[in-house]
Amino acid sequence: MKILVTGGAGFIGSHIADKLINEGHQVVIVDNLSTGKEENINSKVAFYNLDIRSKELEHVFKKEKPDCVVHHAAQMSVAVSMKKPIFDADVNILGVLNILQNCVKYNVKKLVFASSGGTVYGEAENSPTTENEPFCPLSPYGVSKLSTEYYLSFYKHEYNLPYIALRYGNVYGPRQDPHGEGGVVAIFIKAMLTGKTPMIFGRGDCVRDYVYVDDIVSANMSALNHDICGAFNIGTSRGTDVKEVFDTLKRIIDFPKDCEYGPAREGDLKRSILSFDKAQKALSWEARISLDKGFEKTVEFFRKNG
Ligand SMILES: NC(=O)c1ccc[n+]([C@@H]2O[C@H](COP(=O)([O-])OP(=O)(O)OC[C@H]3O[C@@H](n4cnc5c(N)ncnc54)[C@H](O)[C@@H]3O)[C@@H](O)[C@H]2O)c1
Repeated sequence: MKILVTGGAGFIGSHIADKLINEGHQVVIVDNLSTGKEENINSKVAFYNLDIRSKELEHVFKKEKPDCVVHHAAQMSVAVSMKKPIFDADVNILGVLNILQNCVKYNVKKLVFASSGGTVYGEAENSPTTENEPFCPLSPYGVSKLSTEYYLSFYKHEYNLPYIALRYGNVYGPRQDPHGEGGVVAIFIKAMLTGKTPMIFGRGDCVRDYVYVDDIVSANMSALNHDICGAFNIGTSRGTDVKEVFDTLKRIIDFPKDCEYGPAREGDLKRSILSFDKAQKALSWEARISLDKGFEKTVEFFRKNG
């Protein structure tokens, strides 16, 4: 298959592109390198340094005629969305519409979308949270992810464009930059490896569902290989608070100091843990990498890559 990966120079998208290449697919990447890095781009892909909002995107669809699109390009910071909601909507909603219009025009067979289980439900009443939980996004970023899911449902209904929205928990792993939803793991590791004291915002009791990037890649592979439509949580059903993240990394790295505490940040949820029952049943997916193992692999990457 020929697969267009938007955001393929970024943290998650580049791992997906690598896996697709290894499995023998042809891969096209569209990325404007706003947060992505050229060094993440697999040498075997066709790369277009392009904004997903640009009119030129149509040339890529016309020339490459991808069978499927795996859409990961995004303004992906909750904090940026709080400060710049119009910019967030511009990239995360209008950018998506530009992609969807081209998918319809050039007969794309399926679109896989990186949604966010950590933001679309807000402070969920039930935990682990299932897909039946009412939506209550508390940031423009959560609103734009949820809006995209509604657009996907509309394009399926109106144009029969099949889709799968994967609602990720907090993704971490090699190549992660110290910003965005799951950035805390990379931030702490980088601080500890350079002898700096990590700062915890708030009391360190914010709970998240941390998912290793290889498990996110396998969720995307399952999504491409299953003839099913809809939205699926991609989490572990295990919650970890920020203090436990710090303590686990402190043990793995053998970091001698304790953390510092700073003021809580706006937009941060108290608790987000995702049930993966639906993905397990429908996509045969479940996370395979434990937190300890995933943290060890991530530390190893940052040790090697500075
Ligand atoms: N990291 C997480 O924990 C997490 C959780 C839930 C959902 N997501 C979603 O997964 C996707 C990938 O996130 P990531 O963590 O790899 O972030 P990332 O910033 O590493 O990747 C995003 C990529 O999109 C590119 N991009 C941004 N705006 C663009 C534009 N207008 N046109 C073209 N390219 C553009 C960036 O250059 C970057 O390469 C995003 O959609 C994000 O919202 C991530």
